[in-house]
Amino acid sequence: MVNIAVLVSGGGTNLQAILDAQARGEIPNGRVCAVVSSKEGAYALERAQKANVPAFVMRRKDYASGQAYADALEALLRELDVQLVVLAGFMTVLAESFCHAFENRIINVHPALIPSFCGDGFYGLRVHEAALAKGVKVSGATVHFVNAVTDGGPIIAQKAVEVCEGDTPERLQKRIMEQAEWKLLPQAISDFCDGKLSVVDGIVHHKE
Ligand code: GAR
Repeated sequence: MVNIAVLVSGGGTNLQAILDAQARGEIPNGRVCAVVSSKEGAYALERAQKANVPAFVMRRKDYASGQAYADALEALLRELDVQLVVLAGFMTVLAESFCHAFENRIINVHPALIPSFCGDGFYGLRVHEAALAKGVKVSGATVHFVNAVTDGGPIIAQKAVEVCEGDTPERLQKRIMEQAEWKLLPQAISDFCDGKLSVVDGIVHHKE
């Protein structure tokens, strides 16, 4: 059984999708053993509580530096014997040492088709604002392993989603979540826990 920690900062709809998939038996070889929120009062914490998953709050501002924050997070996850870290709307960039400590063991979901609309400053609704400002006709979501480059790690899965006439950032966000994120992320987690994902020269390969 792979011990999974889900890191969140907000509403936690992706966390919910993971918990629901787990409840349906769709992640047979993994178990969400902890939720860590970078924000106090995040609705994701209530979702964790309802699912009886231990939840922790670790605020970046309580630490002197990004490094100190990452070190404390790493220590907590090691104590919990976590083997897979999932960033599900986690809005704090993690120090390089953390990425190395969990190399190819951190999965992030990004609400666009990487390499479009990604990197520093592209998170949450801002991603969808940028996509609409550019006038793209398709956007989507990407699930990828995390390395020290923001949104630059090996891509596990992507799904395209149509941009519709009259879309607002909120409407596009919702469509991308429903059609792509909430499906891709639990599937990638399940595949990881089944040992089906391998990374060779920065490319992810799926075994059957
Ligand atoms: C999701 O759309 C996720 O892809 C995005 O934040 C939202 C979190 O929603 N993540 C990023 O932008 C990371 N760069 P949620 O809290 O309801 O899962």
